[in-house]
Amino acid sequence: MAQQLFDNGTLYQGDALSILRELPGDVVDLVLTDPPYSSGGLNLSARQVNPAAKYQNTGTRRVYPPMLGDLKDQRSFVMWASLWLGECWRLARAGASCLVFSDWRQLPALTDAIQAAGWAWKGIIVWHKPNARPSLGSFRHDAEFVIHGVKDRMQTHSHQCLPGVFTYAMDPRQKVHLTAKPVRLVKDLLAVSPEGATVLDPFLGGGTTAMACLETGRRFIGVELSTEYAALAAARIRAAEEALKN
Ligand SMILES: C[S@@+](CC[C@H](N)C(=O)[O-])C[C@H]1O[C@@H](n2cnc3c(N)ncnc32)[C@H](O)[C@@H]1O
Repeated sequence: MAQQLFDNGTLYQGDALSILRELPGDVVDLVLTDPPYSSGGLNLSARQVNPAAKYQNTGTRRVYPPMLGDLKDQRSFVMWASLWLGECWRLARAGASCLVFSDWRQLPALTDAIQAAGWAWKGIIVWHKPNARPSLGSFRHDAEFVIHGVKDRMQTHSHQCLPGVFTYAMDPRQKVHLTAKPVRLVKDLLAVSPEGATVLDPFLGGGTTAMACLETGRRFIGVELSTEYAALAAARIRAAEEALKN
């Protein structure tokens, strides 16, 4: 498997399920990931259009590399998610949390899959997106969700009560991925892991989780199938490492 080492982690380029199966168990303090949603339409043909058309605001001109693995129907999405979430459970230490991004359409599927994989479902966190596109005559879809699961009894690392709702606009200037998440949001979510934690993200995309780990003194294990996104993530992490040294 293609692998790159960084000061604070490792990036594997390849298929998440195959790579997770090769890694040893009980090594991860937190799973934090944003899988391809296979969403964005009311029927199968609408969901199988180009992800750039499904997930980008109308009129956005920027072109991103294609996002892979976004074409599953509902049954195969649940089965596949149960498989990789089960591997994440094996890699996690007892007491670890699992945080998985989802949109409203895939929320029921992913809350089923996370439990089928062995995690105890602990709750839902809301990411409020104030710059979401409008839905004229209907309700604005201005939230995505983070499903929280735990392995065995949750291990807490502070006495602080964390918020259940986070409001962050995605700054287009910081986007290197079609469906990038804000680094500030991911940094906030890392608060459920101990300082120095090892964080697993099997769908690293443009490297947001790795950046958040770097900025908070944590280590990451990242996997990304697309060679283009793996290269973009690697360049972004190397640049941040250099900036920290200077
Ligand atoms: C929603 S994006 C993650 C974006 C990321 N959170 C960011 O902020 O840049 C999901 C990523 O998973 C990758 N992917 C799809 N199928 C995969 C697989 N089987 N194994 C590993 N990565 C995969 C896609 O190429 C895509 O980059």
